[in-house]
Amino acid sequence: MPEGYNHAVEKFRVTEYPQLKGDAYLDHGGTTIPSKSMIDAFAADLTSNLYGNPHSASTPSHYAGYRIDEIRERTLRFFNADPKDFDLVFVANATAAIKLVMECFRDRASDNAARCGQGSDTESVEFWYGYHRDAHNSLVGVREQASSHRCFGDDAQVDEWITKTDSAPFENQLGLFAYPGQSNMTGRRLPLSLSKRIRNSPRGKNTYTLLDAAALATTSQLDLDTVQPDFTAVSFYKIFGFPNLGGLIVRKAASHVLRQRSYFGGGTVDMTSIHERLEDGTLPFHSIFALDAAFTTHKRLFQSMSRISAHTGYLTKYLHDGMTALRHPNYQPLFRIYNNDSAIYGDTKTQGATISCSLLESDGTPITPGDVERTANDQGIFIRSGTLCNPGGVATFLHWDARELRSMHANGRGYCSYPYENYNGKATGVEAPEVSAKKIRTITLHFMEKKPAPQNPRRTKGVSWSRIKASLSRTSKGQSEVVLSV
Ligand SMILES: Cc1ncc(COP(=O)(O)O)c(C=O)c1O
Repeated sequence: MPEGYNHAVEKFRVTEYPQLKGDAYLDHGGTTIPSKSMIDAFAADLTSNLYGNPHSASTPSHYAGYRIDEIRERTLRFFNADPKDFDLVFVANATAAIKLVMECFRDRASDNAARCGQGSDTESVEFWYGYHRDAHNSLVGVREQASSHRCFGDDAQVDEWITKTDSAPFENQLGLFAYPGQSNMTGRRLPLSLSKRIRNSPRGKNTYTLLDAAALATTSQLDLDTVQPDFTAVSFYKIFGFPNLGGLIVRKAASHVLRQRSYFGGGTVDMTSIHERLEDGTLPFHSIFALDAAFTTHKRLFQSMSRISAHTGYLTKYLHDGMTALRHPNYQPLFRIYNNDSAIYGDTKTQGATISCSLLESDGTPITPGDVERTANDQGIFIRSGTLCNPGGVATFLHWDARELRSMHANGRGYCSYPYENYNGKATGVEAPEVSAKKIRTITLHFMEKKPAPQNPRRTKGVSWSRIKASLSRTSKGQSEVVLSV
């Protein structure tokens, strides 16, 4: 077996993930699934320890507060973020983390306006926002609160913007540049050097960086001490399957820009640290305890994120190579795969565990993603399809221009999920199977097994969706498999 594949997963998969029951779950980008050991450890913690609300003064409350402090530090270390340089704000999910940064920037800009009329000496009242085309909607929405914004169409545009200072944000303008560590649509991993490069350029004076690591952190080791984004957003349920909790990791040297948020609430009165300043109300303390169980179990089962990265890198390449080899009898490919040229399947620096694709008729017409998803679903094969909340990616790879996108949305189409029909003859979404740490080779093998025999020159007509549909199946033995045979 080639390097990277983690054989240990085959041993514990059935006992640790009994909920799979022979189904083929390939929507790890939506959420991965929790292990049995983690849930058992969490239940044991809550039933053997007495915890109070951390805002109270009793012994159980003190103990809860102590555990939260410990887990906060453990979480930072998990992302290789030295607690001396970084702080962690617990939030509901990655979107809440991003929205919190947005609120802070908006309020800082308006605070400047209120204090100085025209803005402070060092910073104007304007909040400029830039984001990469590969951004998830959670990042795109920030532009609604910015004074001006720019969407960067590719890495080259970002490179040019970093080195030239003849475009916004201009000197003294408060700026925020946001990018996903990994496109949730194509799985492409973006260059993480951007944060440091921006900080070390003339842009760095008043422009801060926000890394959306919601997709990236699921199957790779984040190394924040090296990458040094000012703000990083993560969703823990995407990494561990549970708890439903997110985090905003703040580089302490940049934390001053988040301090002018006008809202304060809940029981927090001590606001010396940035997490105390930004965490509203009672913390989701039970979920935070679950996070501790998640770290311990995850480490025991998978050893490290680097190991997971190697495993999923191997499976993704394996799946990708198999999918690209599948042909209709008329030699037309069964799948169209969407990605940038810079992404290399099997190279975990440039590609994550998602494969964005369309299943094609033998004349090359994409089958409506909703049909594929629904048919697969009926067979116990769970994938995500749609625009995947990634408008930039869809516009690029499905060739929608801004006017068409607006028209599609105005007519109630192009939602993140449920792309049940084409619009104006064009596909409104893609399929995006995603593998994870707990996937084993058998499943992906079956996904591409039974290659057609294209040598028969008489079978040149190809195969229709109805025949492909009929062959999406799983074994009667209940072992999950996805067979795409023609
Ligand atoms: C790259 C990326 N960013 C943000 C999000 C939003 O995450 P959440 O819904 O947990 O806030 C997702 C969800 O899939 C994502 O993939």
